[in-house]
Amino acid sequence: MKPLRTVAIVGTGGIAAAHARALAAQSGITLVAAIDLDETRARAFAAEWGIASTHASLTDAARDTQIDLVAICTPPSSHAPLAIEALRLGLHVVIEKPPALSLSALDAVARAEAESAGTVSCIFQHRFGGAAQHLRSLVAAGDLGAPLVGTCNTLWYRNQDYFDVPWRGKWEVEGGGPTLGHGIHQFDLLLHLLGPWQELTAFASKLARRTHTEDVSAALVRFETGALVTVINSVISPRETSDIRLDFEHATVELSHLYGYNDANWTFTPAPGHEYLAARWAERETGRASGHAAQYADLLACLARGEAPQVGLHEARATLEFAAATYAAALTGRPVRPLDLNANSPFYTRMDGHLDPWAAATAGAGA
Ligand SMILES: NC(=O)c1ccc[n+]([C@@H]2O[C@H](COP(=O)([O-])OP(=O)(O)OC[C@H]3O[C@@H](n4cnc5c(N)ncnc54)[C@H](O)[C@@H]3O)[C@@H](O)[C@H]2O)c1
Repeated sequence: MKPLRTVAIVGTGGIAAAHARALAAQSGITLVAAIDLDETRARAFAAEWGIASTHASLTDAARDTQIDLVAICTPPSSHAPLAIEALRLGLHVVIEKPPALSLSALDAVARAEAESAGTVSCIFQHRFGGAAQHLRSLVAAGDLGAPLVGTCNTLWYRNQDYFDVPWRGKWEVEGGGPTLGHGIHQFDLLLHLLGPWQELTAFASKLARRTHTEDVSAALVRFETGALVTVINSVISPRETSDIRLDFEHATVELSHLYGYNDANWTFTPAPGHEYLAARWAERETGRASGHAAQYADLLACLARGEAPQVGLHEARATLEFAAATYAAALTGRPVRPLDLNANSPFYTRMDGHLDPWAAATAGAGA
């Protein structure tokens, strides 16, 4: 496969700078187009990052400019439509999280990918730090013993102003609250480490913000290994932290950070009698933080070798499915198994199962 050289960014708002910075760190890559419905914003972004052209649509950009890969950095409701547009143009695609508003929308992207020369990769940057990759290999090899119990908490704080941005806090545009939009990073890493889950129960509430969606959710999950893990996703927690703690038979591994980690954010505690494992933990590659740069480096290397990206649609679907399961369990009050989220489920086509559970309360609050 010929190496990727030219990248366009669609959506030049907040997260686009993380993509531009990460891509600037890759050798042989040129940012060639900045695309935004807001052309003033696109021009300012292009000036800041030295990008030669600006456009109002991806199709216009592809007509004028040679593009190998497009990074979709727009609000969530446009992710799947833009990914399909890019795939029909034969481009490789990177989609910001969440990859789509629903499992059905993501499956439509997968159908477009099957007919395209392009491949899709989704941003889940926490998989790509050196420590997480080493932990995954230790878990897969069984070196830490069986996973037994864990916690996975995204405790963030977003004030009302944050939700007053038009696309936030609405099922039809953002797709969900902190489960789909914020905690998804943490439980993506959890799923990457522990593999498939078997059954999940959950609660979700709207306690403190005027939104249409939840502002907090809590799930209890049994993995196929038997491990039990609680997962909390909140945007109403004044002391912000992102934490994963996993207790294996032979060691406890903890990650405590906020929006990204480096080596110092990890703690490894061997069980009594298993102190030798500290040396195994120390064998990891150090100095590789999580983040967009690490994910892009891996993605570009995979594509250059003609290999599938590590976070392709199949992997991203498992994470989106976990979000859908959390909503389904919370909003129906019943435990959920993966097979429950089939095409007949109302949660297959919308994260709220078309129930819009807090509509009345939101209308009353004037949002
Ligand atoms: N991976 C992460 O750590 C991370 C962090 C923050 C945000 N995000 C995700 O990034 C995405 C964008 O978030 P943001 O905070 O940058 O949003 P933003 O509102 O700051 O920027 C979005 C931009 O997209 C443009 N836009 C909207 N629809 C468009 C379309 N159809 N075509 C072209 N341009 C369009 C808007 O004009 C705006 O400039 C969201 O999905 C969000 O969840 C990811």
